Order: sequence, then structure tokens, then C-alpha cells
Amino acid sequence: MSETYDTIVSKRDTRRFSDRPIPPDTLARLVQAARMAGSAKAAQPVRLVLVSDQAQKERLAACGNFTPHIPTCQVAVVFVLVPEAGVVGAPFAIFRGPFDAGRAAQNLMLAAWAEGIASCPASMHHAEQAAEVLGLPEGHVVANVIALGYPADDPDPVLGTRPRLPATDYVHRNRWGE
Ligand SMILES: Cc1cc2nc3c(=O)[nH]c(=O)nc-3n(C[C@H](O)[C@H](O)[C@H](O)COP(=O)(O)O)c2cc1C
Repeated sequence: MSETYDTIVSKRDTRRFSDRPIPPDTLARLVQAARMAGSAKAAQPVRLVLVSDQAQKERLAACGNFTPHIPTCQVAVVFVLVPEAGVVGAPFAIFRGPFDAGRAAQNLMLAAWAEGIASCPASMHHAEQAAEVLGLPEGHVVANVIALGYPADDPDPVLGTRPRLPATDYVHRNRWGE
């Protein structure tokens, strides 16, 4: 077993954060981890908006239906897809853009967890409202928002309560059902 493997399999989404700030150099490393994710055809359609302003975190939280954790996090990292990279609205948009954003977001969350920083994604159900709150240019869309922070002393009651499928249901070999 490697430390990398342990970090990956122990990562759980956490919605309860402490007040401890994330040092700027640590945040810079997490951003770098996201930035280094590959993208389809190296189109690099992902940009980040780092939201640490409290009022702005609250405005962002109002754009999702399951987002009470956003105002309590230290930094909400917004993953934005840009149209210039030919992703938003293009035929491959449905596969490429969200996949690229997901890769970058997972890089960021795992790099964070390796340093003891918890995280939880959030969907922006009211996507146009989120774009307006963030002042995104025309055609830019929010893929996801990752709430970051050191875990609170009182643990998140949801933590670890979502079991994974048994491996036998999860994996098929050569053909479906085998
Ligand atoms: C694309 C995506 C969107 C999500 N949106 C939300 C959300 O809006 N609010 C929330 O509390 N959790 C959200 N989650 C977190 C999931 O609920 C979480 O990954 C799942 O429950 C598994 O959690 P675990 O790894 O702690 O077991 C989202 C996760 C993903 C991958």
C-alpha cells in the first residue's frame, strides 16, 4: 500500500469545517494539483474561481439545493467550463467538459486530503444564477463547486455513511454480466 492509495480510499466528503484558515501556499498547491489534470485533446476548458468572501459564499450557496456546507467552508473552489475551448455547446460537451472538470476537482480534493483538508462537492442547480453571482462571461458555466476546509472537531454525522457497491456488482469482465 502507498500513501497515495491510502489518501484515495480514505477520502470521504465532509460538510463540517473548522475555522482554521487554509494557508495561501497550501491553497496554491491544491490549485496546482487541479491545473495539472489532463483534458480531452488538451483543450484545457477548466478555470477556477476561488471564493473566500463570506457574503459571496452565501450567494453561491443560494444557487444550489443541497449547499448548507458552502458558507461554513474556508474556500469554495468553483470549477468553470469556458466555451472558447470548444467544449460548452459542442457535440462532445456532454462527455468532455464535465469529465475534465471532474478530473481537476478530484485532483484538488485528493491533494487537499493528503494535507488533512476535507472537502465536499456541490451542484449548482440554479446554474444561471450561479453564473450571475460569479460574473461569468457569456457561455461560461459552473461545473461544480468544491468546499474546502480543515474538518470540524465535531464530526460530520453523514461522514462515512454512504457505503460503496460491492465489488462484485461494480466490476464486469470482458462483457457485461460476466
Ligand atoms: C457531481 C457531484 C455533485 C454533488 N453535489 C452535492 C451537493 O450539491 N450537496 C452535497 O451535500 N453533496 C454533494 N455531492 C457529494 C455526494 O453526496 C457524495 O460524493 C456522496 O454522498 C458520497 O460521499 P462519501 O464519499 O463521503 O461516501 C456531490 C458529489 C458529486 C460527485
